[in-house]
Amino acid sequence: MDLVKEIQKLKKEKNAIILAHYYQRPEIQEIADFVGDSYYLSKIGKDCDEQTIVFCGVKFMAESAKILSPQKTVLLPAYDAGCPMADMAVSEDVLKLKKEHPNAKIVCYINSTTEVKAVSDVCCTSSNAVKIIQNIDADEIIFLPDKNLGSYIQEQVPEKKMILWSGYCITHRRISLEEIKKAKDSIEDLIILAHPECEKEVRDIADFVGSTLEIINYATSSEKTNFLIGTEEGILHELKKRNPNKKFYTPRGGIMCVNMKKTVLIDVYNALLKNQHEIHVNEDIRVKAYESLMKMHILGR
Ligand code: 13P
Ligand code: SF4
Repeated sequence: MDLVKEIQKLKKEKNAIILAHYYQRPEIQEIADFVGDSYYLSKIGKDCDEQTIVFCGVKFMAESAKILSPQKTVLLPAYDAGCPMADMAVSEDVLKLKKEHPNAKIVCYINSTTEVKAVSDVCCTSSNAVKIIQNIDADEIIFLPDKNLGSYIQEQVPEKKMILWSGYCITHRRISLEEIKKAKDSIEDLIILAHPECEKEVRDIADFVGSTLEIINYATSSEKTNFLIGTEEGILHELKKRNPNKKFYTPRGGIMCVNMKKTVLIDVYNALLKNQHEIHVNEDIRVKAYESLMKMHILGR
């Protein structure tokens, strides 16, 4: 069976759209209708006309699409593709922290559970986080779950007081300063591009810090040739496609998010064939989480 052809056929029959994050396997990115960073995919999921969304990414992404479009069927092909960082904050603890800081607004990274989104004032992604914090009507902000993105925002917006959660991405944590220094010493004119989920010492040595899409855009518009990519290796697929004559290096020969790599072609085929694995969100929680996601789309514009 030609899986790619079968997926295309089923997709038409079911009036479905396939969305894939840049960390997905190359063959998954190739069959997707849209590939992007978290913000772009969230926007496409919200605005698309298709009734079925096959979300090739991790659970919080598919849940965010369902929160924004409850009338659509949202499918997560790899049922156990989660995000360990999203699970580092639970809503009860967030509310406890809020009690200690009653004047603070809660801003959650989109990499969080639906319950945490429901108790947050606004959501953000790595590409709009700085703008959201600048635009939010509060001087004190509880930011969660990523302490690294949080401290990056604090550096960009020093006038606001950020109270940071202690979560982190287990994938980006593997990118070390030593590795980057070693690469810088051995490769001439090497440009360092890092995701804000990286540790501070890595961000500090980087020439540019941004979301996956921003990293791709930066490398593509740059006149330089050699880049060290401080994020998950799936992004190399798009980088190489857009820049066949440039050279991309990775720390440790590539760092991989095991959850993002769980989706394989047969899962996408089965998702379309059997309507699996459908995302369901409790309606009371969804309505509250919808507010924080919609505010992100308004404040982040
Ligand atoms: P972005 O694509 O928004 O940069 O997100 C990175 C990420 O870690 C998604 O899990
Ligand atoms: Fe979560 Fe990090 Fe994987 Fe993104 S790369 S899904 S933040 S563990």
